[in-house]
Amino acid sequence: MINIGLLGLGTVGKGVVEILNKRQKELEDLTGRKVRVKKILVKNVDKDRGMDLEEGVITGDFEEILNDKDISIIVEVTSDLEESYTYIKKSLSAGKHVVTANKAVVSKYFEELSQLAADKDLAFLYEASVGGGIPVLKPLKEELALNKGIMIQGILNGTCNYILTRMVNEGKDYEEILKIAQDLGYAEADPTADVEGEDTLRKLRILATLVLQGRITEEDILSYGISSITSWDIENIKNMDSTIKLIGEARLTDEGYIALVHPTIIRNDSQFANVDMVFNSIIFRGENVGELKFYGPGAGKLPTANAVLRDVLDIINDSYWKGNPLGTNKLKNANHTFRSRYYIRISGSDKEVLELFQDALDDIISEEGNIAITTKEVLYKEILDRIQSLGIDRDQYFIARIMD
Ligand code: HSE
Repeated sequence: MINIGLLGLGTVGKGVVEILNKRQKELEDLTGRKVRVKKILVKNVDKDRGMDLEEGVITGDFEEILNDKDISIIVEVTSDLEESYTYIKKSLSAGKHVVTANKAVVSKYFEELSQLAADKDLAFLYEASVGGGIPVLKPLKEELALNKGIMIQGILNGTCNYILTRMVNEGKDYEEILKIAQDLGYAEADPTADVEGEDTLRKLRILATLVLQGRITEEDILSYGISSITSWDIENIKNMDSTIKLIGEARLTDEGYIALVHPTIIRNDSQFANVDMVFNSIIFRGENVGELKFYGPGAGKLPTANAVLRDVLDIINDSYWKGNPLGTNKLKNANHTFRSRYYIRISGSDKEVLELFQDALDDIISEEGNIAITTKEVLYKEILDRIQSLGIDRDQYFIARIMD
């Protein structure tokens, strides 16, 4: 019998229980053992969970799970960052394997928890933390044994991709589509972490650290979200035979590495252009293999729970990546060298903006009270410095890089 301790019974936790119940027989046939959730940690033990659970499964006491010798695997799907860190650390220290879907905790404590698991000869797996249901981290770890990772790039946030897809398809305003996304449960009541790029940044931190085999933290990544985009921006972008996606990217350059999360204008015939709604896609470039592309549902109850359970299955079958998968490359941050073409829209006076960007101008689009320009290739830092010199608020302008 394999006993799992499940921490959290929110959307993903419920998905884990649901799939385990549905696939009992297949799992037993495959592993030769029964796989069950023995205990579930919740904050409120009296709350009706809307599902059939065995008597005594629910507990409000983490120590009860930690001290249960029959429980060998902890599945951590809570949402509080520091609480989740404590649970994972204590579980590994107590000799239990850990699977988590929590990208915030993996991102913040990646090196420490990876080393602790390796020291203890235990699994610390987090497939569901990046790309939702897409199997991407395990294949990448395998590729990285054979290849030098050169680049990782992806649409990593389902919420932003949903909003941008519908804005492009329907020409509606950002606020209107955000509200629909919230009503449908795609976007959270406080959408900040998704729309300001934080969620993508955490996923990129995990991917970049694995792919470039050196420590790249959240602070090492440039980030800019989508919250100030307007339907006029979308119209201008469509007139460029292009579309827009929030893309996270890390790659090696001659100067070091560049890592950024940014709204990105891509041509309609480019690889990411048809990745729509809550789907994610990730492109990896390795020295031998060239480009590998991953695609699938980036969020959602069953896809995410499925990714969690793939990790659990790898532990049961003893087929998970052994040792610490993080490398020790000394990487130099070269974000200050990042150059690109840009689309910049600023609410306000045409004259001032045109003077400010005179030497970098490529094209000019204008309407009452708004000016949009495209630029030649310029240093990113220079663009930000010039916009800041105008002394305008963040919601008064929008920048997108143009990917050729
Ligand atoms: N909020 C995340 C997203 C959930 O929208 O992609 C999946 O990580």
